[in-house]
Amino acid sequence: MEDCVLINGGKRLEGETTVQGSKNAGLPLIAAAVNLGGVRVLKNIPRISDVFDFLKILSFYNVKSTFVDNELKIDSTELRNPSEADFEKIISLSTKIRSSTYLLGAVLTKLKYLRLPKPGGCKLGTRPIDIHLSALVTLGGRVKEEHDYYIIELENLVEKDIDFRYPSVGATINTLLVAINGKKSIIIKNTALEPEVNAVIEYLNKSGKSVERIKNNIRISPSERNKNIDFKNPSDRIVMGDLLLSAIATKGELTIKGVNPIEIKALIRKITKSPCNLYINNDKIIYSPHCVLHGIIKTDPYPSFPTDLQAQYASAMLASGGSGQIVERVFGSRFEYAKQLELFGGNLKISNRRLSIYKSCLHSATVQATDLRCGAALVIAGLSVNGYTRINNLHIIDRGYEDIVKMYNNLGADLKRIE
Ligand code: EPZ
Repeated sequence: MEDCVLINGGKRLEGETTVQGSKNAGLPLIAAAVNLGGVRVLKNIPRISDVFDFLKILSFYNVKSTFVDNELKIDSTELRNPSEADFEKIISLSTKIRSSTYLLGAVLTKLKYLRLPKPGGCKLGTRPIDIHLSALVTLGGRVKEEHDYYIIELENLVEKDIDFRYPSVGATINTLLVAINGKKSIIIKNTALEPEVNAVIEYLNKSGKSVERIKNNIRISPSERNKNIDFKNPSDRIVMGDLLLSAIATKGELTIKGVNPIEIKALIRKITKSPCNLYINNDKIIYSPHCVLHGIIKTDPYPSFPTDLQAQYASAMLASGGSGQIVERVFGSRFEYAKQLELFGGNLKISNRRLSIYKSCLHSATVQATDLRCGAALVIAGLSVNGYTRINNLHIIDRGYEDIVKMYNNLGADLKRIE
């Protein structure tokens, strides 16, 4: 199987587009739906392999799901722990995705016992789950580490406040999904402020729970209410950023509709530091040429510049003839893509967590997607150069992009999926 995408690049992207449902909100919303129980409907869920893999893992807990277009019905009325044989399949599936960690928030308070596989996902340095587990112990849980999984028990929830050492997105969501089952109020301090967390909070509150954000803390008050509402997953803010950066890279002209530009305001602020025509209103972004990206990007938790967009920004900076630096402050190592951008003729230099980008003249290349956002960055580079670019490991891109070929071809690009 070829598993690559061929890009006949050098074409300006033009037109109007909407954006797929959010991967990083959709996955925890699925966990929240299981936690709330019964039969729940989520809309605008992207048909990406991480979602299919997570649903497969949940199926071993007897969670039934039907996925019609982007509407997902989840039935967890007969939730139960998996058989030994199924657990082996869960372990191998969990090595592929990070979001298997959300099993904790999905099923623990119901099953009281869980063998949580050690998560996989993009290789971005060490990605422990110590913050998740220490929060759980504070709430009365017991954790025992085995070779490739943790044995977690939560007989009786102890309502105690929690103070995160780092505002972890996943740990905020998992702890929230446990804490909503408490009989007394719980405050989680130093929580993640990412919009994906807010989507889960909105879903829980609309379902009758009582979750309140107080600056960067979250107060969860007990609530027996449990309304069954359909909930719409927000659009994917990272894909919104990809599209904006691909317009810059191809000197194109785009209108991106049905989005919330505030969710990428750190990116927009950086782009508007360079002369360009960028029109923003509350649900659309209109970009028209001409912008050269310069400057220093420092990634940090929201609302700072998102780590998930730094590779794509580097690519657009090179394609627009700019130069600058990227400092990665969220993950231990997230510059794997730089080696691939060098194959396009990019002039880059890594020192620790700092990537320096020098003015370069790019050409087409054959490259490898080494992680999800590296893949997105390589597509942006391939769109911007004349000639044919081949990107191998398309399956890695499919983990987070519903149909990256169609997304860009609808805007005048010429991509072909080679199975
Ligand atoms: C989520 O990962 C996203 N993934 C990531 O997107 C995103 O980059 C990240 O949040 C930050 O915004 C999903 O939502 C599935 P974290 P998550 O816990 O929850 C360290 C993409 O490309 N940490 O906020 O795993 C961790 O190692 C992916 O879509 C601990 O040390 O992120 C990292 O350095 C990539 N101990 C930092 O915190 C813990 O217990 C941020 O991790 C948890 C995290």
